[in-house]
Amino acid sequence: MCGIVGYIGFRQGDQVVISSLKRLEYRGYDSWGYAVANGKEIEIKKKVGSISAVEVKEKRAEGVTVSIGHTRWATHGKPSDINAHPHTDCDEEIAVVHNGIITNFSSLKNELISEGHIFRSETDTEVIPHLIERCYKDSKSFEEAVIKAIKFLKGSYAFVALKKDEKKLIACKYKSPLILGVGDGELIFASDVPAILEYTNRVIYLNDGDIVIAEPGKYRIINERGEVVRDIELIHWSIEDAEKSGYEHFMLKEINENPRVIEDTLGEYVTDKIELDPSFAAGISEIVIVACGTSYHAGLIGKYVIEKLAGIPVRVEYASEYNYHQIIPGRSLILGITQSGETADTLEALRAAKRMGLRTCSIVNVVGSTATKISDHVLFTRAGPEISVAATKSFIAQLIVLYIIAIKLSPLTRQEKKELIEELKSLPEKVQRILDKQHDIDEIAKKLSNFENIMYIGRGLGFPTALEGALKMKEISYIHAEGYPAGELKHGPFALLGENTPVVAVINRDETYEIMLNNIKEVKARESLVIAVSDDKDEEVDNFVDFAIKTPETLPILSPILHSVAFQLLAYFTARIRGCEIDKPRNLAKSVTVE
Ligand code: M6R
Repeated sequence: MCGIVGYIGFRQGDQVVISSLKRLEYRGYDSWGYAVANGKEIEIKKKVGSISAVEVKEKRAEGVTVSIGHTRWATHGKPSDINAHPHTDCDEEIAVVHNGIITNFSSLKNELISEGHIFRSETDTEVIPHLIERCYKDSKSFEEAVIKAIKFLKGSYAFVALKKDEKKLIACKYKSPLILGVGDGELIFASDVPAILEYTNRVIYLNDGDIVIAEPGKYRIINERGEVVRDIELIHWSIEDAEKSGYEHFMLKEINENPRVIEDTLGEYVTDKIELDPSFAAGISEIVIVACGTSYHAGLIGKYVIEKLAGIPVRVEYASEYNYHQIIPGRSLILGITQSGETADTLEALRAAKRMGLRTCSIVNVVGSTATKISDHVLFTRAGPEISVAATKSFIAQLIVLYIIAIKLSPLTRQEKKELIEELKSLPEKVQRILDKQHDIDEIAKKLSNFENIMYIGRGLGFPTALEGALKMKEISYIHAEGYPAGELKHGPFALLGENTPVVAVINRDETYEIMLNNIKEVKARESLVIAVSDDKDEEVDNFVDFAIKTPETLPILSPILHSVAFQLLAYFTARIRGCEIDKPRNLAKSVTVE
């Protein structure tokens, strides 16, 4: 995710922002940039690539300096020098760095263009300096213009703005992270704590709706109710701890980002209607999903959902096997799912499909990756960079996009679609409730951590959920875990059951419910410990199992999202108890670029 920095103080601003941006590199980025307001003009430098070797050697005149900086993780528009931040207004008098997504940028941009504004980049961010420029004309001050401008914005933002001739920074926060470091005679804004620790350990965590006006040695925070006072907190973390926001591992941090990821990905496709051009799937006879690993499991869940809601047949293929089939030209849509956009097998499957003249579409997390270049259509997930090798938040984001596709292509009535969307919108809060009770899952992990084999079972949507639960468990805890359709147990795997093989069962309150309870009885009769994941309104299941992980009630078709978050935590805590190297499991790589 993008990193932003803003500095006003006595040090040389460009040096401060570059050094601070280097502390945000762990967030992932593809380009960087900074701006300095020197009183007469704004000096800007921005570039694709790494900032790690960038240094400013030349000395500037002493006195107060005002600078902003940014590491960009592309969302709207490919990684390029032009799309890198900062972005400016027409006359290059105002510059802005931004983290977040302005969901209504396209209508704002059209409106501003019709008023004569000239845009240079493909980014959503660029509307912000232009809006400030527009509002400045009828405002008494820079700060009044910014306050007026943010009223037009929808989506999420943390941004810092400067003006060429003002010794002032104005920062606004709404649903994206922003902190203010309060030093002696200097102030520094940043997306995250590591960027400020070199200068101060006194931090204000800003709230949504906060607007900060920072001037030499002083600041004011206002929101819609007027001036507000926020506590200054003292940070005692090392810089390394701070990169993980205090979480012990990136994986745990990323699991905890799931509510934000669901919101951002939904925000990308759902406004007052579903923003998805159905032409990518026009006239198709079937969808063939190609993917690997966790993305493949997202595809399996997508199959159930798209077939059920849209009535379109879906096949899901391991990308590594796709090439060995006879690829039949026709009206199939080949849907690649890949977090990195660089998985060699998935890319090869997409290329093979293209060679046969088939239409391709990819669900991708990394903007500018190869999958985005070789596919006819691209649907982005908005998970942000995922550092931990184990995919967590990117999987949840992939599911959200698959649900959106299914709803968009379905013949459901407007009302029925609305109900599904409303329930999707309630999921961030429901996921948060699971995260708030993660201690309970840690307790269950303690029971599992001594075993060397675990069986995950489910039916219907519960089956691919079980597969993904097992994959998470095996890759980070090194416990051998298998996902099975519950109905298949009797056809072989029963031989493995017994007191040494616990069974984790996915319980959905749909047409699979009764039969799953029967299967659990059969498993219990073989003396396996049984752990269920089920919704918190389901009390009956407690009579059948040893332990239950309860997730908030939702529509059965959406349950894989909540159950999967619980499984991510279960795997995480089990691996932690076993002392595994969680973020970089042995023998695995984040991006598998060889076949
Ligand atoms: O980047 P991709 O989504 O294409 O990666 C696919 C798999 O390599 C990936 O999901 C892998 O299975 C993860 N380590 C699972 O946590």
